[in-house]
Amino acid sequence: MRVNRRTSTMVAGAAIAALTLGACSGSSNGGGGSSGGGGSNDEVEVFTWWAAGSEKAGLDALVGAFEEQHPDIEFVNGAVAGGAGSAAKDLLQSRLQASDPPDTFQAHAGMELLDYINAAQIEDVSALYDEFDLREAFPSDLIDLLTRDGQIYSIPSNVHRANVMWSNSAVLEENGIDPNPSYASLDEWFEDLDALQDAGVTPLSVATAWTQVHLLETILLADLGPDAYTGLWNGSTDWEGADVTAALEDFERAMSYTNDDRDGLDWPEATQMVIDGNAAFNVMGDWAVAAFEEQGQELGTDFAAVPVPGTDGVFDFLADSFTLPTGAPNPEGSRAWLETVASLEGQTAFSVAKGSIPARVDADPADFSEYQQTAMESYGQDTIVSSLAHGAAVPVSQLNAITDATSRFTSGAADLSTFQSELAAATATS
Ligand code: GAL
Repeated sequence: MRVNRRTSTMVAGAAIAALTLGACSGSSNGGGGSSGGGGSNDEVEVFTWWAAGSEKAGLDALVGAFEEQHPDIEFVNGAVAGGAGSAAKDLLQSRLQASDPPDTFQAHAGMELLDYINAAQIEDVSALYDEFDLREAFPSDLIDLLTRDGQIYSIPSNVHRANVMWSNSAVLEENGIDPNPSYASLDEWFEDLDALQDAGVTPLSVATAWTQVHLLETILLADLGPDAYTGLWNGSTDWEGADVTAALEDFERAMSYTNDDRDGLDWPEATQMVIDGNAAFNVMGDWAVAAFEEQGQELGTDFAAVPVPGTDGVFDFLADSFTLPTGAPNPEGSRAWLETVASLEGQTAFSVAKGSIPARVDADPADFSEYQQTAMESYGQDTIVSSLAHGAAVPVSQLNAITDATSRFTSGAADLSTFQSELAAATATS
């Protein structure tokens, strides 16, 4: 504590000196020439894929909290566009392998984090859990997903739910469908999708490969149920089984209701189709709520958000977290960023804008939107399963192989039985 206070006083002193200098010379760049004491110690490069739209709004809100808590350290935005880290993760891996890490990077709780741990690309941050008093701040199940051999490797920023179905209320109403849909099964939902298709409406919007994997995971969950779905990742469910074939047939049917231009879009455009009334439904994680709300859309009036049919009572979970990379150029900056990420102020500011719920257990639900309050309730009482498309269930190598197989199938390059065998092979190897 004492060291930190001294450091920030010193840096604040340097900043004041730089400001004074800046004022004398007419320069507006207070930080640039004042590196006498600390090299890059006055900035922190934060690597994420929250580069635009409502995701950037979330990051901006977190940066706002950071600037209040650490006015002496400059935030450097290392964001790389592409939903779900579809471009960022490869780029990050090249940087880590070239020993050019950012000061901190976004990583998912669960198997994705294990990849970085096994490659010794991130450091144990258990000491920060003690210093910031975090051991009781997060649910213990969540901390378990960040822990390896008793050491904790990241600090969670938020929790998202993957199995959410979004709909445009006016489009549903115009087509004689309940604007607050509640389907007991995929089959019931498909009946309405058929009707929409007959009426010339795009029933279901989807985007590029990772969003198709996202849809696939929710359909596997709906058809197999939470136990057998989890068994796909721990080896207890046979990928070659007839129940998986039936789920893949449902996935094929769901894809038949989607927009043809999907491969050129990312999630914001697919969600936008629902917001604009150009599609009736979309399946996406609950970061989508921020896109609806950002555009003045009201839950229950303009749009509905309910669990994907057949997944009621199950919370398909993922969490973002931030790491201390091995060899981070400015570990003091990393530490400061992690302190803000962990703080109640940081978690609240971020999730309010991002559509997630705080990972901390002491957040006040009253600070959050109606949708987020329902997500908090579900997270507290539902059966929790791990998201495939968002790093919780499988390592990155397996997710990449599943994504490739899914693209081959949805583009018509592979038939269903080839797809099923490729999925089995993808998860058999690591
Ligand atoms: C997820 C990430 C979310 C959101 C989403 C879409 O992987 O955990 O925070 O950013 O991708 O990009």
